[in-house]
Amino acid sequence: MEKTKVAIIGLGTVGSGVARILLDHGDRTGRHAGRTLWLEKAVVRDLAKARDCDLPAGVLTDNVDDVINDPEITLVAQLVGGLEPARTIMLRLLEAGKDIVTANKALLAEHGPELFDRARELGRSIAFEAAVAGGIPIITNISQCLSANQITSLHGILNGTSNYILCKMHEEGGGDYAAAVADAQRLGYAEADPTMDVDGSDAAQKLAILAHLAFGARLNWRDIPRVGIDKVDPVDIQYAKQMGYHVRLLAIADLKDRGLDCEVTPALVKAGSPLGEVNGPFNAVLVKGDAVGPLFFHGQGAGQMPTASAVAADLIDSAAGRTAITFRTLELWSDAVKGVDQADFADSTGRRYVRLMVDDHPGVLAGVTKAFGDEGISIASVLQKEPLAGEDVVPLVVMTHAASEAAIDKACATIAAMKSCRSEPVKMWVRD
Ligand code: NAP
Ligand code: HSE
Repeated sequence: MEKTKVAIIGLGTVGSGVARILLDHGDRTGRHAGRTLWLEKAVVRDLAKARDCDLPAGVLTDNVDDVINDPEITLVAQLVGGLEPARTIMLRLLEAGKDIVTANKALLAEHGPELFDRARELGRSIAFEAAVAGGIPIITNISQCLSANQITSLHGILNGTSNYILCKMHEEGGGDYAAAVADAQRLGYAEADPTMDVDGSDAAQKLAILAHLAFGARLNWRDIPRVGIDKVDPVDIQYAKQMGYHVRLLAIADLKDRGLDCEVTPALVKAGSPLGEVNGPFNAVLVKGDAVGPLFFHGQGAGQMPTASAVAADLIDSAAGRTAITFRTLELWSDAVKGVDQADFADSTGRRYVRLMVDDHPGVLAGVTKAFGDEGISIASVLQKEPLAGEDVVPLVVMTHAASEAAIDKACATIAAMKSCRSEPVKMWVRD
């Protein structure tokens, strides 16, 4: 069988999983690629660090030029995270004639147009299945299997770290947030800097990539309104639980007449619904196409082997020549793709959970319901807890019927200005 010589740049959580697949399952990868995927080099920063894979002698190096200057290495898994030096390494690999597979969504969300233009100019390809939702093959499904559809909506749980932490908070009634973040790091789910996971940035970067594939939208991920789980108060997870909901970090893109509604935000999702039952580091994507209807994808969105599974499949497709065809025809991030613009967020509508901390005095509830009524917002239910001993402040949870973001914001501003309101209202979408 002919050989494709492959290199891996970055032998951390994902890279060492990819090395294990290439080294332990050559029969499997060879059968699907029609040629042997031969691991020639693996590049790291620190040669002395212990690795989660056993490499043959001569494979490990700390010099990326060993790959760039070897013309026999034609395919590279670029698995260094962050923007630099990952961007420079990618550009140098392309210039040196290599096809690339990457899992680095931060890099694609930030420098996708530059990297894809350069790859096209040089006749090379970039594959990135692992960049969104880890082991779930959502990139291939949207860009190839669903290509006969106009996608009309895409709702995802796209950050495994956030979902893992939210589940711990749900089960443990608050739990220890810092310990949960540390667990996610130890288990290999979190980014090198977990701030990007918990503040919603990672999910927004992935949503920007999916929105480009599904709707042709060219979004700057920073323009996607986003709230992370670092803003979620454990008390709201408990109230949601009592009402039959789970709090999940949703990445939402809905195609409307006025444009694409996009947002990353914690939301109440009905327990027992597909998205409400996504647990631990799992991810999910609910996609609706005009021909196919709703489809639900569910699987491990972070972690070593699920992510390595997606990277290795991209290596196989690239070696077999399949990636080059889709890369050429899709023209991603090129001016040829004319997509939809982002809609004005203030016009987004839906049901809301609003939690207030108010004085336990006569007339307060009436004032609150009037504030909602004045903005044309209909209240679905109100939950008031007894005050704790010695306190006269009570939590008041209001579930609304569908209303616009602008109307909810006005009602909340009116309530926040009341003397009886003791803290900023907390609001989240309710997704039944
Ligand atoms: P990681 O464990 O931190 O590994 C990064 C690797 O890159 C390390 O082996 C590091 O070398 C190497 N590296 C860093 N700078 C380098 C340089 N200048 N030259 C050569 N090697 C360098 O990260 P990871 O979790 O595997 O993630 C890799 C990428 O996959 C990231 O873009 C991440 O966002 C993405 N991703 C991760 C997951 C996941 O579940 N972990 C899932 C999907 C996508 P040393 O080991 O010597 O320090
Ligand atoms: N840090 C990411 C997550 C890895 O937790 O989902 C997968 O992209």
